[in-house]
Parts: sequence; C-alpha cells; structure tokens
Amino acid sequence: MMADVLIIGGGASALQLARHLRSTMNVILLTKSSLHHSNSYLAQGGIAAALGAGDSPSFHYSDTVNAGGSTSAGQALQIMTQEASSVVHELDSIGCAFDKDHQGHFQLGREGAHGQNRIVHGGGDQTGRRIVESLTRALPPNVTVMEHHFVFELLMNDQGQCFGARSKDTGGNIHTFVSPQTVLAAGGCGQVYACTSNAETAAGDGIALAYEAGAELIDMEYIQFHPTLLYIDGHGAGLISEAVRGEGAVLVDEDGRRIMEDVHPLQDLAPRHTTAQTIFHYHRMGRKVFLDIRGVSRFQERFPSITALCLKHDVDINQGLLPVAPGCHFIMGGVKADGNGKTNVPGLYAIGETACTRVHGTSRLASNSLLEGLVFGRRTARFLNAQSTLLPARKQKKSVPPPDSLVLPGIKDIQKRTMEAAGIMRNHDDLTAHQAWLDSFPVVSNLDKSRLTKEQVTALFLLQTSRLITTAALERKESRGSHFRSDYPKEQAEWKDRTIRLQSHTKEA
Ligand code: SIN
Repeated sequence: MMADVLIIGGGASALQLARHLRSTMNVILLTKSSLHHSNSYLAQGGIAAALGAGDSPSFHYSDTVNAGGSTSAGQALQIMTQEASSVVHELDSIGCAFDKDHQGHFQLGREGAHGQNRIVHGGGDQTGRRIVESLTRALPPNVTVMEHHFVFELLMNDQGQCFGARSKDTGGNIHTFVSPQTVLAAGGCGQVYACTSNAETAAGDGIALAYEAGAELIDMEYIQFHPTLLYIDGHGAGLISEAVRGEGAVLVDEDGRRIMEDVHPLQDLAPRHTTAQTIFHYHRMGRKVFLDIRGVSRFQERFPSITALCLKHDVDINQGLLPVAPGCHFIMGGVKADGNGKTNVPGLYAIGETACTRVHGTSRLASNSLLEGLVFGRRTARFLNAQSTLLPARKQKKSVPPPDSLVLPGIKDIQKRTMEAAGIMRNHDDLTAHQAWLDSFPVVSNLDKSRLTKEQVTALFLLQTSRLITTAALERKESRGSHFRSDYPKEQAEWKDRTIRLQSHTKEA
C-alpha cells in the first residue's frame, strides 16, 4: 500500500498528527494493538498548561527546567509551554470533556514540582482516555487506521533514506507500506522493566526501529520511575496518579511517619526522581511505604480509576493507606528530533515519547508528556503538509536470514535483569555484567525479521532498548536527575554539558 504519510503508533501524538495533516493526503496509521491500548489512553494526570490566573508559559517553562535539570531544552520547551493553552482549547473545541467548574472554567489540579495549579484533567483521572477518544472521533476520512499491525522493520534504501515500513497482522500476513514520510509515534519502553506503569505495548519498538535505521539517539540513560505504583505482592499493579498527592495525600512509612518532609523543600511534591529514589531506599532497607490518602476529600469521585484499581486488588481505600512502590514510567531520551519531528534519517520523523527534543531534561515534569505529544504532533503535521510527496529510491537494503538456532531470552528475564542492573540505582559492575549478558544475543540490525514471530521480534526490540539504556548509563559516570549511579552519587560539573549519543554501532560522549 502507498501513503503520503505513514504513522507508526496509536497514542495521542499519532492521532494529533493524523488529524492535522492536509485532507488531500493519503494517511495510514498503523498500531500494533487497538487505539484503546496505549500509554496515552491510560494517562491519569492530565495536560499541563498555564491557564490559571497569575500563571504564564514562562513559569511553566521554569518549573519544567527546575524539575528536569539543566539539559539544553531551549527552544523546543519554549514552544511547548507557549502552545500548551492552544492545544487544550483545541481539544475542548472538538468535544474533549475536561473537568470544569460551575462557571465553565477548567478545573486545574496540582502535581509534583509545579509551582501552580495547571493540570487540566477529564473524568477525574481518565484524562488520557477522553483525549484519545475525542481525537479518534475527530479523525478525517483521509486517515486510514489499521489496528493490530505490528511493524517489525522500516524500509531503508541503500542511500540511508526511509521509504516506509513492513508489518505483520494477527494472521501472520506481511504487509508493505511505502511512503515518502514515515513518523514514529510508537511511545516509550516501560516494558523493558519488570515494574512499570506502562501499557503492554510500550516495548521500545520505535527506539529500536530508529536505531536500526541509523537514527541518532540521545539521553537514553534518563529513565523516569514514577514514585507511586500500587504495590501488591511485590509487583506494581497500576499507577496511582501524582495528582493524588496534589490533592493532599502524603507518603508515610509503616509507622505513619512522613518520609519526604526532610528530603526536599517541596516534600511530597518533590521532583519525581527524588521521591522515587527515597521510596526505593526504604524498600532496600526492608521497610514499607504507603500513600496516606486520608487528607484527600471526595477521593472516589475525583479518582474513579484509582478507586477501581484498589478495589480490584482488595485494597480498602476507607483505611486510607495504599501500599506503593516506584515503577518505570517514561524515557526522557530517545530518537533525536527537532521541533518538527525531523530526525537525521531522511524520510523518518519521531514524535511523542519515542522522540527526544530534550524538553524533559533529565526528569520529566508531571503532565508534560501528553502535552509534548499534542504540541509536536500538530507541529509535525504542519511541517509535513508543506513537504513533497515524492518517493525516494525504493531498492531495499539487504538483510540476512536469522540463524536456524536463534535463541532468545524470555521477556520476563529481560525485564527482571534490566530492572536490577539499569533501574533506579545503577553501578559499574551490574551494568557491565548486564551488558555482557545482552551482548550474548543477536542485535536487531540486518536480520530479516519477517521470518520471526511477533514475540521474537519483541524480545529483540527489548534487548536492543535495554542495551542502549545500559550503554548510556555506563557511559555517564555521575548522577544527574533520574540517572543515579551509586558509584558516582553526585553530579559532576564536567558532565553537565555532555550528551551521550548512540548511533548504529557507534557511541560517543
Ligand atoms: C500521573 O498522573 O501521575 C502521571 C502523569 C504524568 O506522568 O505526567
């Protein structure tokens, strides 16, 4: 099949892009699951936007930089914070039901490290679902959505240009999509970790596909752990939004003592990495941590999804203490892209969590991720609307058949090992041992993956993503933001302006 623009992914950034492309363009959107299975759909908190009296994009900008540390966010962050209110109003105008007060003003919630109430939400904690559903309803007829298409490779010619992708459907049939512009909007990689808030679909596909295509990746060491996943029988059972702490919940130990009081001036609303690392230390000492929700008024009404999650796991919210643990939530790094989604690979674009425009620095500010997808999805559409639809040469680069005896580890094994070696706390020995284990398996590049099952390709993508995170984490010999090295526990001035770049088989600091 031919498309003017091929979109890989089905979350907020993909749908926003699709909606804003010219109506004369033939647009195909491929998602490996359904539009109801994505991190965007699961998102509870909301969209950060400076809409309140006394707030401004420049305050939003500085809160983002203060939470995320000093990577050179610059222009992309300025764009994102300035365009925030317009994307919210646009969603409102297409019928996205945000929560409003009696006068019709947006109700604005508070989340960690925000200096103001600026989180626009819908259905209490069902914001992502409302956004995805309204964007889906608003898709124009020139957009064809193809669900359950698992993209296993990008089509690359021998001049390094991307001209589409190949997918497998649920029946194992292979489909070829040819397009001059391919956009990776495939989300992040939470599934590379044993404990995650992410949807099952977030398995690093976009990152691995881009790397294999020769795209430059940056900041792969910066993985955000959300402080509060509901913690049941040693496992993360689902997200408890930071908005709960924004409404007055506090973190306590098993003796009821508040654990954040002496750690950060913002206490329970400290930047996420600080809170997650604190809870992690308690767990390492064999102590339990709870979210005390007794100070939150009308909890069930404000947080219906979290109430349902607790009910499902027999956690009695009336007792007011929810057991919590940190889990992988977001990757700040990814495919280096500019404010129009452009990567260094001709014909290949990246937006949303797959991309890295550096807006999030080393630790993302809450509710900036839906915002990122919506702003850069729209901007990339506007950019692509002005691009040529001429196809590049279509002679595909050669691939090699996978060995008959391809042995791959189980997905749970990859997740457990990545969690232990490249999780919240890292050190040289664990990272090196993990890297050696990863290197005992084949790399994604050049293998003809049409001969492999979806599970095998997923394992290869996870291995590749884990390898990239591990390589970057080993390289950065300091601690900064979400990247914590117990053997280098402090920020080092000489690392401040150094970026870990990974491209095909090269790496350089
Ligand atoms: C949350 O609701 O805590 C998650 C929102 C986000 O990650 O931005």
